Amino acid sequence: MKILVTGGCGYIGSHTATELLEAGHEVIIVDNFSNSSPEVVDNIKEITGKDFEFYPINLLDEENFENVFKENFIDAVIHFAALKAVGESVEKPLEYYNNNIGSTLVLFRLMKKYNVNNLVFSSSATVYGNPITCPITEEFTLSVTNPYGRTKLIIEDMLRDICKVDKSLNVAILRYFNPVGAHKSGKIGENPKGIPNNLMPYITKVATGELKELNVFGDDYETHDGTGVRDYIHVIDLAKGHLKSLEKLNENPGLVTYNLGTGKGYSVFDLVNTFSRINGIDIPYKIVGRRPGDIAECYSDPTKANKELGWSAKYGIEDMCKDSWNFYRGK
Ligand code: UFG
Repeated sequence: MKILVTGGCGYIGSHTATELLEAGHEVIIVDNFSNSSPEVVDNIKEITGKDFEFYPINLLDEENFENVFKENFIDAVIHFAALKAVGESVEKPLEYYNNNIGSTLVLFRLMKKYNVNNLVFSSSATVYGNPITCPITEEFTLSVTNPYGRTKLIIEDMLRDICKVDKSLNVAILRYFNPVGAHKSGKIGENPKGIPNNLMPYITKVATGELKELNVFGDDYETHDGTGVRDYIHVIDLAKGHLKSLEKLNENPGLVTYNLGTGKGYSVFDLVNTFSRINGIDIPYKIVGRRPGDIAECYSDPTKANKELGWSAKYGIEDMCKDSWNFYRGK
């Protein structure tokens, strides 16, 4: 199939593009490098030994984005392109609504105009807000606590509305839990611009000495060791979930929604200790206050994706820590 991947140079997008190429699909990447860099394009080519179309454009640039549809016969779209920093979204809500919602509207208009009917949408477990219990199933009530999360929920709601009336559309909404890890080659991985917000990129920068110590945001949660518990998932497992979802869309299911997680929760200390043990590096830390908006626990029930997609996460937390470091130490 010929797959358009928006945000294909980003963290999850680049791993998914790599898996698609390795599975024999044709790939078109559109990315404006807002949180990635041009070298990712070469690195994907190097890993896969395959070529692909690349357009360095912003999705909001409708005229140039339309050329992508004019110049290619696209079978399906995987839509990753978005701003994704929770804290920044609170500071700059308009930028988040304009970028994330605005660009998605352009994409949907073009898909309709060029009769592209299969879409995989990159959503997030953030749409479950503060869940009343764990594990979280797809049926849980949806709510959000920040503008970033709201952009994901608004797009999900738009898709539910659109699919009610447009029966030719097939959409897979994928709700990711906490992606970590990197490609085994060490050539692509997560390298956010500036000081990282997320735990694993922060740990890797402490490991190189770029950052002095990790701030652990609270050790007084009701969890097994007091620190926050999350469902960390290897980015390669996540990428493979996209390929399985594309196969599902070929069965014309209409709109389907899946959690992509491992179903296991690990605390901040679990991750730090595993990283230290596996990589032989001490990670200095200090306990600080809770981060506003954080929740104690968040982990998935991935049963629906296991059954309906024939997908399950294969990598464990040790691989995640090893591969994250293998990528980042080469930077
Ligand atoms: N944490 C620290 N110190 C840090 C960073 C994080 O102690 O420097 C802790 C957090 O308090 C939390 C855990 O590590 O307990 C994970 O935090 P992340 O920021 O890595 O991930 P979150 O679960 O907060 O957020 C992630 C994504 C969001 C997404 C959300 C819900 O970053 O985009 O999962 O799925 F919305």
